[in-house]
Amino acid sequence: MIHGKKIRLRAIEREDLPRFVEWFNDEEVRQGLNFFLPMSLAEEERWFERILNGDAAERPLAIDIREGDQWIHVGSCGLFSINSRDRKAELGIMIGDKRYWNKGYGSDTMWTLLGHAFETLNLNRVSLQVFESNQRAIKVYERVGFKLEGRLREDRFSQGRFEDTLIMGILCDEWKALKEVEI
Ligand SMILES: CC(C)(COP(=O)(O)OP(=O)(O)OC[C@H]1O[C@@H](n2cnc3c(N)ncnc32)[C@H](O)[C@@H]1OP(=O)(O)O)[C@@H](O)C(=O)NCCC(=O)NCCS
Repeated sequence: MIHGKKIRLRAIEREDLPRFVEWFNDEEVRQGLNFFLPMSLAEEERWFERILNGDAAERPLAIDIREGDQWIHVGSCGLFSINSRDRKAELGIMIGDKRYWNKGYGSDTMWTLLGHAFETLNLNRVSLQVFESNQRAIKVYERVGFKLEGRLREDRFSQGRFEDTLIMGILCDEWKALKEVEI
């Protein structure tokens, strides 16, 4: 278990899969992700088997939030494309349950996952890609210290138009400097 201020990150269990199916079938959630088709439980189960057999450090983690004395599963996040020679990785996040958007859980998850990346996995750089229309996500990434590094012009066709994909990144030293301010 990895604990943040408002969230905890834990291993994904088979019982979590129906919730993922529900979230990936929500068009508004899918819009921020690189999925454009509805998803079945069978596909989720196949994905789950793949992650179980993959690199442990790259296994996505479930995001739980605390409500009263209960933990509620609201999404997932993780690091992937980990490159140990260059000490870098890419990051992904989804709060799938929309009732929990705009409550600070995404920011706390990002902060916690970056701590894990830099202080446990000993990475030096974490990057991500985000669609320009996903202003909520961009706000969160900027808040936790990501910088805009590049723009893939008209990279995605969605909802009848092309849009740019932004590449953002943060270095370990930048994160440490922000952490000093946070403490
Ligand atoms: C992106 C995501 C992780 C953000 O999580 P979250 O818990 O909603 O984020 P937070 O509550 O920490 O912060 C959201 C901030 O964006 C702001 N925001 C919301 N909509 C916005 C918009 N259209 N434009 C600008 N800012 C916006 C909120 O006001 C909030 O800022 P504040 O705390 O200063 O008020 C979550 O919405 C999500 O998972 N979406 C679906 C999947 C997805 O898009 N993943 C990212 C793929 S790159």
